[in-house]
Amino acid sequence: MNKCAVLGGTPVRENAIPWVNTMDDSELNAVIEVMKSGNLSAFLANSGEKFCGGEKVRELELNFCKRFKVKHAISVNSATTGLQVAVAACNIGPGDEVLVSPYTMVASASAILLNGAVPVFVDIDPETYTMNPEEIEKWITPHTKAILTVNIFGLPSNLPRIMEIAKKHNLYVIEDNAQAPGATINGEEAGTISDIGVYSLNYHKIIHSGEGGIVVTNNDKLARNCQMVRNHGEIALDETADMETYIVGSNYRMSELHAAIGIEQLKKLDGFLAKRRELAERINREFKKREGLCGVHIPEGYTHSYYIYPFRFDKDVWGISRKVFAEAMKAEGFPLGVGYVKPIYLINLYKHKHIHNETTYPFAFIDPPTQNYSKGMCPIVERMHFEELLTADICRYPYEMEDIEDFFEAIDKIWGQREELQKLS
Ligand SMILES: Cc1ncc(COP(=O)(O)O)c(C=O)c1O
Repeated sequence: MNKCAVLGGTPVRENAIPWVNTMDDSELNAVIEVMKSGNLSAFLANSGEKFCGGEKVRELELNFCKRFKVKHAISVNSATTGLQVAVAACNIGPGDEVLVSPYTMVASASAILLNGAVPVFVDIDPETYTMNPEEIEKWITPHTKAILTVNIFGLPSNLPRIMEIAKKHNLYVIEDNAQAPGATINGEEAGTISDIGVYSLNYHKIIHSGEGGIVVTNNDKLARNCQMVRNHGEIALDETADMETYIVGSNYRMSELHAAIGIEQLKKLDGFLAKRRELAERINREFKKREGLCGVHIPEGYTHSYYIYPFRFDKDVWGISRKVFAEAMKAEGFPLGVGYVKPIYLINLYKHKHIHNETTYPFAFIDPPTQNYSKGMCPIVERMHFEELLTADICRYPYEMEDIEDFFEAIDKIWGQREELQKLS
């Protein structure tokens, strides 16, 4: 038998499969059209018709509304700013708390801090890696204003249960749907089930325009608030304006160029998703046949968009550490993520509650007990991140079925030589 590459044998694949451009002539021609028109951005920060941007921005927003069956779409220049807009639109600020998952890209929590509110981290479910609804109520205080749940890796959170809890406590729900465009629960689109959802069009996402984001909502007032925050809204208001609150805006606007690319990419979303799901179904079946590895769990009625494929590794069954397994997979041509990103509350700024030149703003507005920023606060996320979870970017373009076969050939090769690999653990 061919030795594992990490032990000096020949790898299953010489090189990892590279990132490949998904752009073609359709995006190129769309960009050329905008360049020729000279209208690279049509926003103006005043109450005229250009307050909501130009032709391409509006077309992209309309197409998002149609594709995801939602009343309003507000384009922005990233999901990061989209999340900030969503939090601001809910009138959340200093003195407020927002419950959020600790297992996410840092932007989900920064959006709360940047609005002067305090993130309170709620542990995840060990099967789905999304916020565990049964953990939510113990963190609700009179300061709690919203739940910001993250549809991580491409799987929707348990939104039916989260919405129920939010209704009982009169809280907003915001969905960070950066990783899950096209995922559904009983046919309803992730991102549109809560009060506000945020999609990403960043370069690494399933569809992208380089940078970009879209905020969606079925609520007219929240949509208007989002438009205000996106474009220096205070300048467009006169004293008689019927605003729920005083909102300070910024420039979170998307350019016509990015919108033109986004329009073309959105047309491709369902094709990309079909391919990802075809590969993932095979991956799911293969994981079920193997010991000590647990593939994706999809709750009844849910669909996944497989932005990243997460799986769990049982070191007791394998007899080698997760780190050695990941190193061996990398040597075979399949680099893996060891965990995802560190639970956010373990980042220094949370641990020490200091931002911007060591001020204690905004943490000091609120009693400390909910500021659960130390090791041991969310045991499930810590177990997943530090011990069990691995992440694989194997459903993306240009992966094909043969690549998935190679991926499992590499796994089986390592399984067959785990005794020799023990020496590396
Ligand atoms: C879960 C999640 N939220 C938010 C973001 C931020 O998206 P963007 O890069 O569009 O600002 C990302 C991007 O990686 C993400 O994965």
